[in-house]
Amino acid sequence: MYGNFGAALRKKNLRRTKIKELLTIAQIGQWICVKGWVRTKRVSKNMVFIALNDGSVIRNLQVVAAPTQLSEATLQSISPGSSLCVEGVITTSQGQAQDIELKGEKFTILGTAINYPLQPKKHSLEFLREIAHLRFRTSTFSAVFRIRHAISYAIHHFFHERDFVYLHTPIITGIDAEGAGEMFQVTTINTAKPPRQIDGSIDFGQDFFGQKTSLTVSGQLEAEAAALGLAEVYTFGPTFRAENSHTTRHLAEFWMVEPEMAFYDLTDTVALAESLLKYLVRFVIDQCPNDLDLLHQRVLEAQSQKHTTVRTLPLLERLKLVAERPFHRITYTEAITILKDSKPNKKESFTYPIRDWGAGLQAEHERYLAEQHFQQPVVITDYPSDVKAFYMRQNEDGRTVAAMDILFPGVGEMIGGSQREERLEKLVARMQQMHVDAGSLQWYLDTRRFGTVPHSGFGLGLERLLQFVTGMENIRDVIPFPRTPGNASF
Ligand code: 4AD
Ligand code: MG
Repeated sequence: MYGNFGAALRKKNLRRTKIKELLTIAQIGQWICVKGWVRTKRVSKNMVFIALNDGSVIRNLQVVAAPTQLSEATLQSISPGSSLCVEGVITTSQGQAQDIELKGEKFTILGTAINYPLQPKKHSLEFLREIAHLRFRTSTFSAVFRIRHAISYAIHHFFHERDFVYLHTPIITGIDAEGAGEMFQVTTINTAKPPRQIDGSIDFGQDFFGQKTSLTVSGQLEAEAAALGLAEVYTFGPTFRAENSHTTRHLAEFWMVEPEMAFYDLTDTVALAESLLKYLVRFVIDQCPNDLDLLHQRVLEAQSQKHTTVRTLPLLERLKLVAERPFHRITYTEAITILKDSKPNKKESFTYPIRDWGAGLQAEHERYLAEQHFQQPVVITDYPSDVKAFYMRQNEDGRTVAAMDILFPGVGEMIGGSQREERLEKLVARMQQMHVDAGSLQWYLDTRRFGTVPHSGFGLGLERLLQFVTGMENIRDVIPFPRTPGNASF
């Protein structure tokens, strides 16, 4: 009945309407133009049903047409993965699954998709990782990447509201901020025939920057310099670690948020970190309900297929719990006591049994604390100085530093941070002890020479947070094109 009505409304060069907009504000009888990719096509005797998605929202738009309206060639070209422009009229849907649909009047094929690898069935995440360039077209990944966007936006919002300055720290650097030596070298030296010094070693003085340089492992040291002038700053950018970790929680290239605050002590810093995490989780619950709902269902399905005795909460409950309940706070010393007395330690099922104070906490210990003992996020403070970086503030006891890690169920370490050593002599002594080259860090020491103040900061791994929020178990599935040992495809 809308055929003629539609023709009267037809306009030339009609503006494209996004499906998200259309599903919320379109009116019955309105003539519109949509563009997107075909998810499925079903042809019955009297009707063609096309599920069209344009990435603006998780839901597809149902497009209907009589087969006689389409040429044989057009009908053939409409297949999963092909892209279309459809003009037509919004009508009330006869189907149960949706309220409205588009009665297509004019179909233009934008791109065909012959032998399209994504079929309308469930594909494994491993398979989808091999075609990462196409996984944006799936419901799961479109939801994950819309949430990744929402969190990134909310991070800026959170800090902007609190008058923090967004600071762009360098990606190429000459310093190893974490002192762990896990850096990717950046060079223009001809590696087949490098310039050499008299002793045979490579002469980096002839390299592009006149010194040896790498990709940054953290913007913290530069952020400290900025905080000792701007007071409250944060960085948010790509971070690189050449650690040979083949785990579901490590990337060689990941995104880190690093706030750095003058006049904050460790307690202030833990409070800021907790409110940031709660704000971001709450933001996603409020702003991305449809995407979260899909991921929630996904997690439920995955859990029902797993034969496990460990009871985990459904995704939405996990998120609400984090947004509402205060995090647990314990010291490293208390954590060691809990771990020493724990069942897996007594049964010797930890790969690294906990015997003495001073042991570094491994992923298995962190997960035990967050997942089994506390079953919620836990903040651990005051680690032994020997297991932490040189810049952390030494406590009065002479053996611990004012460090904090925030551990999450299912993820492990979400945040690492500390109060910084602002006392020049103590910092210099610590650098000597830990064999940190002070030569290239004179500028950093200047911040302690000139108007030093107590200050603190932390680093939040964006992908670790996304793992928690989306329920995706592998970190490779929350970044568009993951970089891991042996893999830099795309
Ligand atoms: O604990 P990390 O190494 O701390 C720092 O880099 C400090 N400079 C931060 C600061 O105080 N400004 O890293 C911080 C966080 C970790 O807690 C984790 O969430 C994430 O960064 N992270 C990684 N995420 C993915 N892949 C990796 N290889 C990661 N390494 C660290
Ligand atoms: Mg850490």
